[in-house]
Amino acid sequence: MKKLQNILCIGAGYVGGPTMAMIAKKCPGRKVTVVDINAARIAAWKSDSLPFYEPGLREVVRDTIGKNLFFSTDIKSAVAEADVVFVAVNTPTKTFGQGAGRAADLQYWEKTAREIQDWATHDLVVVEKSTLPVRTATAMKRVLESGGSPYRFEVLSNPEFLAEGTAIADLENPDRVLVGSAETPEGLAAREAVVDIYAEWVPRDRILTTNVWSSELSKLAANAFLAQRISSVNALSELCEKTGADVTEVARAIGCDSRIGPKFLKAGVGFGGSCFKKDILNLVYLCESQGLGEAAAYWNSVVEMNAHQETRFVAGMLRAMFNTVAGKRVALLGYAFKADTSDTRETPAKVVADLLAEERADLVVCDPHALDNARVELAPHGDSVTFESDPYRAVAGADAVAVLTDWRQFAALDWRRVFDSMRKPAFLFDGRNCLDHKALFDIGFHVFAVGKAPMSHFD
Ligand code: UDX
Ligand code: ADP
Repeated sequence: MKKLQNILCIGAGYVGGPTMAMIAKKCPGRKVTVVDINAARIAAWKSDSLPFYEPGLREVVRDTIGKNLFFSTDIKSAVAEADVVFVAVNTPTKTFGQGAGRAADLQYWEKTAREIQDWATHDLVVVEKSTLPVRTATAMKRVLESGGSPYRFEVLSNPEFLAEGTAIADLENPDRVLVGSAETPEGLAAREAVVDIYAEWVPRDRILTTNVWSSELSKLAANAFLAQRISSVNALSELCEKTGADVTEVARAIGCDSRIGPKFLKAGVGFGGSCFKKDILNLVYLCESQGLGEAAAYWNSVVEMNAHQETRFVAGMLRAMFNTVAGKRVALLGYAFKADTSDTRETPAKVVADLLAEERADLVVCDPHALDNARVELAPHGDSVTFESDPYRAVAGADAVAVLTDWRQFAALDWRRVFDSMRKPAFLFDGRNCLDHKALFDIGFHVFAVGKAPMSHFD
């Protein structure tokens, strides 16, 4: 198979944009085009303010745009020119019909497949970048080759494992790249051609090749395992609060076991992000549709535990504050689902804000990069939620502060100044265990962290 010179990506989102920018940077001899139906998003990629905040992304785009990286809304010409099409469109959870609330909504994927079929002018390699249910590649091949198309389409799976906030480092130095294909001569040739793209900067021994189903399932499995570790440590955090054990110490003790490892053992208010919940529900649905009830229930419990962690965090706030927050000013520090991103999809902070607003608290939300999203998502609460980018102004006069995103700037605040500006008693709820609790207690705060005994001045 000839070199895949003209690379096209359909979908200029959190996955497509950064991945293609990195391919353009690392493969100066190839042309990379990214298209999207959302003209505003394409305009943002071409401007100085990218569609979302991601450390280091601006520099990679600036170095490549107009040289070998191009953004466009002209899907037709881009497909006609392409040697390979990566598909990175959104695959949200279905909100209607069969599998609603669990199965992946494949309408954008199928629509994209039909566009590729409409505009193709020769045989094409089509690569699934979006996370998809196992066996979607077969369905796609059927759509692409339906209606007597004169061209052959080889459908591969190459899931993206980047995490937001560290996307550039993850892309530059991935733990592994996974490329799955049909194990036919054509499939293997297409696989080699896609491997060659990554081999321009990723060591060959980190590029894994598998059959297409293993590749599709590995992406769901990786996210399910990571989320399961968080739910496991969060389940332990509740027991720690009851027994006087400290979840950070327990996580450290178990993480030193090389078979367990230290990562993804941080207890907190719950996991968020666009992937974990969606991918596990997708896995649950796949298990159910294969008649695997026990496996489905097992994975579903990971999501249930996460929802429990979010609601019990708020229940703990209420309990500590004499069972009422009505009319009290509560400052929420952090709204993004994790630090170093403006992304707020599935953020636990929204659940916390919604529950506190229901209790009639006066909320002030503070985040260095996610306030635009927060304003839109919390608009239904009207005047009971305000927004403030300066943390010191956010906490002034507050009865309670809850840290919901582990932004470094929150840990670095002058907490004595924060305490002095708050109403007393001053409550501090650390939903990310990112602060120095002993120091805060010594300043005078009543400190409540996840998975640790409360530090209260009342008893
Ligand atoms: C995840 C996967 O890590 C990535 O490989 C995949 O491609 C997409 O989904 P992402 O959602 O960007 O990436 O962020 P991640 O760092 O995994 O964090 C997810 C959530 O888990 C965040 O809300 C984070 O705060 C939370 N988390 C993470 C914990 O609560 N504890 C931990 O120990 C780690
Ligand atoms: P992800 O986090 O998986 O990257 P995003 O929602 O950030 O998901 O990005 C997906 C992108 O795909 C969006 O910008 C959306 O406009 C785009 N998209 C969806 N359907 C199509 C389509 N048929 N053609 C082109 N772009 C599409």
